[in-house]
Amino acid sequence: MKPEVAGRLNGIGEYYFSQKLREIEELNKNGEPIINLGIGSPDMPPPPEVIKVLQDESAKSNVHAYQSYKGVPALRKAIAGWYQKWYGVEVNADTEVLPLIGSKEGIMHISMAYLNEGDEVLVPNPGYPTYRSATLLAGGKCIDYELKEDNGWEPHFEALEREDLSKVKLMWVNYPHMPTGQAPSREIFEKLVAFGRKHNILICHDNPYSFILNEKPMSLLSVEGAKDVALELNSLSKSHNMAGWRIGMLCGNKQRIEDVLRFKSNMDSGMFLPLQLAATKALTLDKKWHDELNTIYKKRREKVFELLDNLDCIYNREQVGLFVWAKIPGTYLDGYALSDDVLKNARVFITPGGIFGSAGDKYVRVSLCSTEEKFKEALDRIAKISVQKA
Ligand SMILES: Cc1ncc(COP(=O)(O)O)c(C=O)c1O
Repeated sequence: MKPEVAGRLNGIGEYYFSQKLREIEELNKNGEPIINLGIGSPDMPPPPEVIKVLQDESAKSNVHAYQSYKGVPALRKAIAGWYQKWYGVEVNADTEVLPLIGSKEGIMHISMAYLNEGDEVLVPNPGYPTYRSATLLAGGKCIDYELKEDNGWEPHFEALEREDLSKVKLMWVNYPHMPTGQAPSREIFEKLVAFGRKHNILICHDNPYSFILNEKPMSLLSVEGAKDVALELNSLSKSHNMAGWRIGMLCGNKQRIEDVLRFKSNMDSGMFLPLQLAATKALTLDKKWHDELNTIYKKRREKVFELLDNLDCIYNREQVGLFVWAKIPGTYLDGYALSDDVLKNARVFITPGGIFGSAGDKYVRVSLCSTEEKFKEALDRIAKISVQKA
């Protein structure tokens, strides 16, 4: 159809979940509603005091104007304080912090700020699909680095070093890792910083899961000298139950923040002030609040383990984050086949691991963002079909 879409959309499909949700809606029109255990969108609210700030502030008459592109000082200070308190990392609130409309947009901004046509980018396989699409949209070339279970889902640095890395500009990393649930270690963070320094690669760490079922939140920026070679994205989406609010942040050295702001300030404007002030409040939540949230996720995770036992899947009980990642039994060709079977016969949706890259083909991912009752119901439905299969 004329006019044709731009060439940059070649190879970029509709986001998997956007398509799948339409299919689920169709299925919902006939028969029992599908239980959707796919998306990692927290189903619980942020605490009332955070919502109250949004309510009170938005009722004022003088808060509706455009805001600074860099975010208000109160939010930037709160982000710096949060990094200090939880990660032991010092960032300068004026120069080393940039509030974002979610970390997803930050992935695009970083790609647009740094990539020229043909520049290479190391992307994890399996990994969050946006690293790949943002790279392609910005004209870059994705170089997969495979993460393997027997290597603790860590990059194989020796294998990477045998490759020609001269055109690689960025490397996307993400620990706690989505979708495998692998927690970070000090050693892996140190290795990443050393790797970035040695090869002049900007290490882009995406860190939205550090508070979920993870005893010790860690930042890549806590490694000595990390700011020279790394940027870190973070988010209130999962840690504070604020996914729909769209609040994230980028931390890194002054020059990098200015680079990204040069692009971002031409794309959007500052966030609604009451949102920024409510986010400021959210960043002061204490350990008790996070512990209570994690107690709920822990109970849900037990149910998900049971559900996966019913499907003969194998998983690591030590994994962290908002999902459970599990290896499928040999009776299924791949995670798509298992997911389709469960969707069709049990009317439960679980995510096939292959959407995160070919290395995820033999896996599925189950989200913890449903109530315990829903998990029980899903378990009942799945138990019935497992019996049929046997
Ligand atoms: C690894 C990873 N990074 C980033 C995001 C996006 O988070 P945000 O809501 O902050 O844009 C997600 C959301 O699912 C994710 O899984």
